[in-house]
Amino acid sequence: MDDRLATGIEGFDGLVQGGFPARTVNLVAGPAGSGKSLFGLHFCYNGARQFGEPAMYIVLEETKASLQRVMRTFGMAYEDLERSERCLMIDLGELRVAGPEGSAIGFQELQDFLASSLRAAHVRRLVIDSLSAVGLHYATPGEFRGRLFGFSRFLRAQDVTTLLIAESPDAHSLTAHGVEQFIADSFVHLGLEEVKGELRRTLTVRKMRFTKHDTTKHPMYITPSGLAVAADEKVV
Ligand SMILES: Nc1ncnc2c1ncn2[C@@H]1O[C@H](COP(=O)(O)OP(=O)(O)O)[C@@H](O)[C@H]1O
Ligand SMILES: [Mg+2]
Repeated sequence: MDDRLATGIEGFDGLVQGGFPARTVNLVAGPAGSGKSLFGLHFCYNGARQFGEPAMYIVLEETKASLQRVMRTFGMAYEDLERSERCLMIDLGELRVAGPEGSAIGFQELQDFLASSLRAAHVRRLVIDSLSAVGLHYATPGEFRGRLFGFSRFLRAQDVTTLLIAESPDAHSLTAHGVEQFIADSFVHLGLEEVKGELRRTLTVRKMRFTKHDTTKHPMYITPSGLAVAADEKVV
């Protein structure tokens, strides 16, 4: 088990031989409201709390306050973990606002920050929420792709397991730039579908290197304690 990082998300780890393979770069994508941030929060919080693995959550899209509110809603006591420095939430969106006007954070700024802070904080679990926010920095998809490639190489050279969060623009395209899934070691897709006037949540593991993984589209629920995947059920 030491080469897998469990998320602690009910029903998920069993689909992927116990968790994400250590030191990989993983993509979690889906439309707005599909539960991507919640997935990342579980990964950090459970890792820090259950396994004592220091986690860092990079906020680029929402505010830190709103994510902490989400954590509280689902019974994750963030403050204790932050005090013990085992779960750090860093708002780089704020940093951008303080910097030159209109300059969205790019991969280079992100890498410079991580190069100095990951090791200092002994971070084992990293979440970047989201890639879509970094995409605003680049004028063309080609440039974004090239920089993302370099960035994921940097991440693989660290002693860290990363979740890159990305928004899919609509039901037909999985991610905005269409290339992220080739660069990542795994791709977990969160779906949000309207069925007979009701929203249905789903989770599909579309790819995971080094892993004999499940490929079924499963129902996913948001319960009072957060995400829960119905591992024995299939969406047809
Ligand atoms: N207390 C709650 N009970 C049930 N569902 C909730 C609750 N709070 C938020 N949600 C749902 O969770 C979704 C938030 O998921 P989030 O992880 O922020 O999505 P994403 O990051 O993919 O946009 C909201 O859109 C909402 O539908
Ligand atoms: Mg989000």
